[in-house]
Amino acid sequence: MALDSNAKNAPEHVAIIMDGNGRWAQSRGKPRLFGHHAGARRVREVVEACPDLGVKYLTIFAFSTENWKRTQVEVAGLMSLFRRYITKEARALKDEGVRVRFIGDRVRLDHKLQSLMDELEQLTETNDRVHLTIALNYGGRDEVARATKRLAQDVAAGQVDPETVDGETLARYLDTHVLPDPDLVIRTSGEARISNFLLWQSAYAEYEFIDTMWPDFSRDVFAKVIAGYCKRDRRYGGVKV
Ligand code: FPP
Repeated sequence: MALDSNAKNAPEHVAIIMDGNGRWAQSRGKPRLFGHHAGARRVREVVEACPDLGVKYLTIFAFSTENWKRTQVEVAGLMSLFRRYITKEARALKDEGVRVRFIGDRVRLDHKLQSLMDELEQLTETNDRVHLTIALNYGGRDEVARATKRLAQDVAAGQVDPETVDGETLARYLDTHVLPDPDLVIRTSGEARISNFLLWQSAYAEYEFIDTMWPDFSRDVFAKVIAGYCKRDRRYGGVKV
């Protein structure tokens, strides 16, 4: 499918719940981690497609605050995959103009991974072609709770007048404070739920739940989903004039 670099109404910010790695692997008689590795290889293709599709911000859900409940083997395998991914992809991301950020609570992640994340953010901080945000140990409720705690501390310290607190105030305390809200949230693998992803930020997002398993999510599949979004009529609670 041809990519339309001048796509009108293209979503500025796309967020993706990359689901289906485990089932994709198991349907091939392979361990679940095989699917996560295949899923990681898709990330580059999708990031590279963003400029052609008119997408400036891409946010991907790599590991949730609930994913710690998986087996120790799977959790350790995913953590090792994230370390390897950052180490292997850093140079290409830098050279391709990708600015990488991480959202989520870093405290529970191992120190080696935390320093790789810091280094990648610093390495790419002057890039502006695509803004890739990786949600790692991220949960929407956890993010709002952490933001509220910091806001309450500032109120207690007399730095914020509680009478002035509104939605915009809270948004400034979220991990995503420098990002626009997502226009489109995509979930792969046929499941229709949002699993604690960007709860606050997606209040007016469009949703697309597609059957494709994440390791099969190609550039063409991405382009088709974006083309479908471009035909939608967004009203943000108002009426069309
Ligand atoms: C959900 O599939 C996927 C995950 C919990 C991990 C997502 C991680 C990747 C795509 C790997 C790489 C990412 C980066 C940034 C390197 P699932 O395991 O829940 O699949 P299932 O529903 O079929 O079991």
